Amino acid sequence: MNDQETSAPHAPHAPRDDAIVLINGSPRADGQCARLTRALTDALQQHGMPVVAFNISEGRYLPCLGCQTCTQRGECVQTSDDTARMQPYLERAAGLIWVSPLYFASISAQLKGIVDRQMVYWCRRNLPKPAEIHPAPPQGRPAAAFLVAGSDDPLTPVALTPLRYASTVLGFDLNVTRGYSGLDDDTNTGADDNGSDGHSFDDFIEGASAEVCQLFAAVSAAPTVTAPPPSLP
Ligand SMILES: Cc1cc2nc3c(=O)[nH]c(=O)nc-3n(C[C@H](O)[C@H](O)[C@H](O)COP(=O)(O)O)c2cc1C
Repeated sequence: MNDQETSAPHAPHAPRDDAIVLINGSPRADGQCARLTRALTDALQQHGMPVVAFNISEGRYLPCLGCQTCTQRGECVQTSDDTARMQPYLERAAGLIWVSPLYFASISAQLKGIVDRQMVYWCRRNLPKPAEIHPAPPQGRPAAAFLVAGSDDPLTPVALTPLRYASTVLGFDLNVTRGYSGLDDDTNTGADDNGSDGHSFDDFIEGASAEVCQLFAAVSAAPTVTAPPPSLP
């Protein structure tokens, strides 16, 4: 695969103002994050909210090169991978959901790669006349983050802080943050079906689904305005 190619998965439609973007940062296509992603997508769609899910396991999401071009131009030099393709969806979305496994007390490296690519929005704020060059995405949009951990590790702020920063530069407020821990104890041993807090992963999925439906219900009913209406003749 060369630089111009992309695996171009799965966005069912063009970027739109009423869609919820979900980014699943697990490299495992059939793991617990995938299960959670499917459940959240189904729940939102059943409530009439369109979802565009980007699964890191299915695409080509390149990490930041640290070239600093974005500090000069407000644009990333990597223009043909799936992170570049995802950006217009993020700019227009009504809401955002992050899903990640806990890897050594943080988000997955693959998801951190996507987070780092959002540096472009931070840089645009500091460029002269940013509104004329790159209109800022709508601010104050709701977002949620769900972390899934294998053992009894506490879901520390270390894991959530990059997601909070990235949400902020994109114009999202990270209103909901939840974690589930203790999953591998069950899947490895079959000992029981409960996480560290005594609840099952199915319970967690059910609660998360209800929570995102509630969080995004208001914005879905009133799509975010991303551009001023055209002038009257
Ligand atoms: C590289 C790696 C690092 C991990 N680090 C942690 C950790 O620090 N704490 C923890 O509780 N679980 C850790 N886990 C377990 C995962 O969080 C857990 O298996 C999770 O369910 C994986 O999500 P997935 O099923 O979507 O792949 C780690 C797993 C991997 C592969």
